[in-house]
Amino acid sequence: MLLFRGQSLIPDDLIAFSRRLGGLDLAPIQETGRRFVDGMPELYVVSNVMVNGEPIGSLGAGEAVWHTDMSYLPEPPKASLLYALEIPPSGGDTSFVNMYTAFDTLPEDLKARCIGLKVKHDGTYNSGGYVRQGVIPTDDPRQSPGHLHPLVCTHPESGRRMLYLGRRRNAYIDGLDLAESEALLDAIWAHACQPQFCWTNQWRVGDLVMWDNRCTMHRRDPFDNSARRVMHRTQVKGAAPPAA
Ligand code: OGA
Ligand code: MN
Repeated sequence: MLLFRGQSLIPDDLIAFSRRLGGLDLAPIQETGRRFVDGMPELYVVSNVMVNGEPIGSLGAGEAVWHTDMSYLPEPPKASLLYALEIPPSGGDTSFVNMYTAFDTLPEDLKARCIGLKVKHDGTYNSGGYVRQGVIPTDDPRQSPGHLHPLVCTHPESGRRMLYLGRRRNAYIDGLDLAESEALLDAIWAHACQPQFCWTNQWRVGDLVMWDNRCTMHRRDPFDNSARRVMHRTQVKGAAPPAA
């Protein structure tokens, strides 16, 4: 991931810059069912700010749990760009974890168990815990909508192997008993998100953070909902589905 401080970007600038990396995916539909910005369906707004009783963006002020963006799709975006317009005085920091290191440092027996498995990336809940539009929620990971991806993927550009986990909630390792899947996922997740594999950005207004969405995950700390936080995000199309 890369951090560029002190930027000044209107949505058109962010979209134009992001397009230099590839075609853009449309933003996920907002929690209220609306797309955010008229004429700019590529722009995803992350915000707790309310206007006329409706949030202008997604994810509220709570924690956003560890995730890869949009990995419930068959071809998730390869990169995301997140730009800070307004930030709270404290809280709302965003952390990133290195999924190459998470894989490389797995105990050998766990590494061997992971290779060749596929994991379901749930499409029911977003990282703020909100139900996605049009989905009838279930907490049975075998039944929930989503997409299977290899648990260990090879990055198409670096050639390095990484864990590819998506989200913990409603994740399911294809073909295993539910209890066995839960136990294996708990062990992998406990290893993957250790602080020594992470880096945290304490946001400043004007920060643009750009991450490789294939070999990282990210999460956000909660913040005081009486403060304002406004972020703009774009997502760059993946060139190929995640592959072992
Ligand atoms: C995102 C995201 C967290 C944040 O935009 O993909 O997870 O810090 N944002 O706003
Ligand atoms: Mn995200």
